[in-house]
Amino acid sequence: MRAYDLIRRKRDGEKLSAEELEWLIFSYLEGEVPDYQMAAWLMAVYFRGLDAEETAHLTGAMVRTGKFLDLSGIPGVKVDKHSTGGVGDKTTLVLAPWLAAAGLKVAKMSGRGLGHTGGTIDKLESIPGFRTELTIEDFLSQLEEVGVAVTSQSFALVPADRKLYALRDVTATVESVPLIAASVMSKKLALRTDALVLDVKVGKGALAKDLKMARELASLMVDIGKRAGRKVRAVISDMEKPLGRAVGNALEVEEAIATLQGNGPEDLVELCLSLGSQLLELAGLAESEKEAREKLRHVWEEGRAWEKFKEWVKAQGGKVEAVEDPSLLPQAPKELVITSPDTGFVEAVDALAIGEAARILGAGRERKGDPIDPAVGVILEAKVGDWVERGAPLARLRVREKGVEEAEALVARAFTFSAQPPPPKPLIHEVVS
Ligand code: URA
Repeated sequence: MRAYDLIRRKRDGEKLSAEELEWLIFSYLEGEVPDYQMAAWLMAVYFRGLDAEETAHLTGAMVRTGKFLDLSGIPGVKVDKHSTGGVGDKTTLVLAPWLAAAGLKVAKMSGRGLGHTGGTIDKLESIPGFRTELTIEDFLSQLEEVGVAVTSQSFALVPADRKLYALRDVTATVESVPLIAASVMSKKLALRTDALVLDVKVGKGALAKDLKMARELASLMVDIGKRAGRKVRAVISDMEKPLGRAVGNALEVEEAIATLQGNGPEDLVELCLSLGSQLLELAGLAESEKEAREKLRHVWEEGRAWEKFKEWVKAQGGKVEAVEDPSLLPQAPKELVITSPDTGFVEAVDALAIGEAARILGAGRERKGDPIDPAVGVILEAKVGDWVERGAPLARLRVREKGVEEAEALVARAFTFSAQPPPPKPLIHEVVS
């Protein structure tokens, strides 16, 4: 086989076989196919696409370049949840202990933030002492004993994805639905959980800017999962505006804690109930969505999700006192208030602008490996649909020195106003199964 032929055939829109895709991925990983040929092939895929069968074969080949993490020795139903990334998305912090308290085993490998989107690992690291690089042994024993274990991708399960992603990043080929689907699902399949729910974000702050792309991505990922014999569903959820009110690492941990204690923002609670009930159903712990929601609410109202969160923090070396008293989490030295220039209803809050503002303040990174500041970020005082008077607070910026003026301008511009209440928009667009 020659890489040249596979590039030419994909350029011309031909379908590649399982054997050809396997050869390409392994030859690339072994250095027999150079970066320049792989880059040309990726660009051909960007324009010509891959069908569902090719995408599944590509994913399978990527998974086979590494190890599988077998969880079958651990009793109970093992589940995983994945988000395609958003602004203010602290769902894992709330949902992982919540599901564990409901009787599931939550096994999760998470990433760091990049660009305007945050990452669960950065958020967890804002808890003093919290270890995010678990060994396989620690990961497995914690999963069995506590019911929840979240690690960074410290044991690289899919080496092909690392190498391919780095190449896509510098060749403008990240934004391809089949390449994203294969990348995400290769990591999900390497961690052998029994059930998986995918939170596919759509809107200004998401990778998928419109519903068409979100549907394609969700359907393709569900299809890959099913072909591999997994129980999987995808929930397409809104990312036009930030989720909850807090954007920034320690600020989001604080909001997650409030949510676990029963005082969280409505949209975050609703998203957790939606994703969680899909998983409870898939895991066979509930017969219907209604029953699953009731079970989850019961666990939450009894305070068991909050107790499980503390148990999880302790197991990963985090200071429990800092989550019991969030004033002990990292704190920014200054706060600035952005006030409303108008009187009216908040019509929109641009998630991308808020995410960018938080990144510029230091909460996120432009390039992989950049340091971040756990304390800084944005707290939204006004949400879409709220009535605000001129001069009323729209947002609070928790800042150090970095990027303050630029962030202030971005946050101020993120808000738009109208005389009429904006029509309600759904948080959950659809469930793909
Ligand atoms: N996240 C991933 O893991 N891979 C992609 O390609 C895009 C987002």
